[in-house]
Amino acid sequence: MAERRDVVIIGAGAAGMMCAIEAGRRGRRVLVLDHAKAPGEKIRISGGGRCNFTNIHAGPKNFLSANPHFAKSALARYTPRDFLDLVARHRIAWHEKTLGQLFCDNSAKDIIAMLLAEMKAAGVELRLSTAIGGIAHDGTSFRISTEQGAIEAASLVVATGGKSIPKMGATGFAYRVAEQFGLPVIETRAGLVPLMLDPATLAAHEGLPGVAVDVAARHGKTEFREAALFTHRGLSGPAILQISSYWREGEEIGLHIRPDLDFAAIIAAARKQNGRQAVQTVLAEHIPKKLAQLVVTDLGIDGPLAELSGKRIDALVQRLRDWRFRPPASEGYRTAEVTLGGVDTAALDSRSMAAKAVPGLYFIGEAVDVTGWLGGYNFQWAWASGHAAGQEA
Ligand code: FDA
Repeated sequence: MAERRDVVIIGAGAAGMMCAIEAGRRGRRVLVLDHAKAPGEKIRISGGGRCNFTNIHAGPKNFLSANPHFAKSALARYTPRDFLDLVARHRIAWHEKTLGQLFCDNSAKDIIAMLLAEMKAAGVELRLSTAIGGIAHDGTSFRISTEQGAIEAASLVVATGGKSIPKMGATGFAYRVAEQFGLPVIETRAGLVPLMLDPATLAAHEGLPGVAVDVAARHGKTEFREAALFTHRGLSGPAILQISSYWREGEEIGLHIRPDLDFAAIIAAARKQNGRQAVQTVLAEHIPKKLAQLVVTDLGIDGPLAELSGKRIDALVQRLRDWRFRPPASEGYRTAEVTLGGVDTAALDSRSMAAKAVPGLYFIGEAVDVTGWLGGYNFQWAWASGHAAGQEA
């Protein structure tokens, strides 16, 4: 005899726990299954251990999806304010770091403890270290096989996230379930991920690893103004992670170094004031010295400012305004914060995250083809989509 529940949720991550709380509060008998030893492992490591749990500016414009309208309904019905109310009820201290990004003052573990306390209060059962064997569906209920036996439920919520950081137990489980039930999956790829540079470019940029600078990182018409970081493998830092979600293998990205400054005016003024100084000395007042030196050497610029031709200065200014890189690859799922693509939203109801063709089956969180920017947006989607499914499952 199989055990029976109203709702089985596979995945005790951000989305699965939020969904469990909401469904439990409605009086549903909820069981959450996870193959990991602990719940919310990605919450624990997020935001450098302080969890950037939401972004006060979160809206549909901050998400990538084949259907940019899909996320609107869920995001409108569970807002950053709603999550903040929950955080306040649990007296978790938080602060805004930058750009609307909210972090715990103490530890990401506070968020996990909060979700577990809410699950307990809602009567939710959590079963960890449970490998899922298979799923069968007879038209009215789902039968989930595990090593410890089978469980039957009228509703099955798949909340197993994406493929990022396989070392932490990320799997393509949700996509396989979608395929089993004939639902389309948008091709997945690594997002919010450092970009690699080819060996020749890395060799030419020897000495730069560790240098960080404010940039506008561009891909097509998309631009993010944040810091970029040169690494031993290539490019990283928030601006690069953001643009990586828009970039595809073989495409170019452009960096505008210190977009807040007018280097043409700065160089002209310095030349007037003291034509004997080297241009890298002037640049080094505004950008890291190593970077200033590299740009100047790279362009073959030498000698005092007064002797530089207008053409040379234009080339320098242009390099700082639009420095092009063609990364051959990203670092991939190994270091990616998120997975782009996923269960096609065309197959899901945007109010409830239910599969339109399979009554009782739901997909939430990162498994769905909705991916946020860096800065608390991905957790907001996990909370909002989990909340949406929890109202119906
Ligand atoms: P999530 O991946 O959290 O949970 C999935 C759960 O399913 C896991 O518990 C897993 O063990 C389980 N599972 C997977 N396969 C299974 C299987 N086959 N059987 C059983 N269980 C299975 N976002 C943000 O907004 N702010 C931030 O600060 C950060 N920081 C951050 C840092 C790092 C290093 C990473 C990798 C990611 C972030 N993110 C983030 C992104 C954020 O962590 C991510 O988008 C959410 O955790 C997604 O929540 P889900 O619940 O959908 O999946």
